[in-house]
Amino acid sequence: MDGKPLGEAEIIARKLEKAGVDVARRHVFLCADRENPKCADAERAMAAWAHLKDGLKRRGLSEKGGVLRTRVGCLRICEGGPIAVVYPEGIWYRACDPPVLDRIMDEHLVGGRPVEEFVIARHALTDGGEE
Ligand code: FES
Repeated sequence: MDGKPLGEAEIIARKLEKAGVDVARRHVFLCADRENPKCADAERAMAAWAHLKDGLKRRGLSEKGGVLRTRVGCLRICEGGPIAVVYPEGIWYRACDPPVLDRIMDEHLVGGRPVEEFVIARHALTDGGEE
């Protein structure tokens, strides 16, 4: 290092690298709003989020492990939560408490098979174009 402060582009590049964006194969979004929870109470939702973060780490899936995770305030279902969605497949799940999240991590994220009994929707996002 030459001692110069990092520019914004360098800081962003380092954060992208640290998050593992370049090697990600899947991205999990989980609704867990501390302030205004609707589909599960805040304590339950935050426990689910903590369990997902910890479970991905324990399985070696976070950071450079190929699975991105994002906590969101609401996925606009607001019933039967916590709700999660896994991309790129676009598999939506209900009741994402720790035991269900363990199954999603083991069976879907590791094994490649969605956990059918908790799937509420399937819709992969595509514009039909090429990369
Ligand atoms: S609060 Fe969970 S989907 Fe809206």
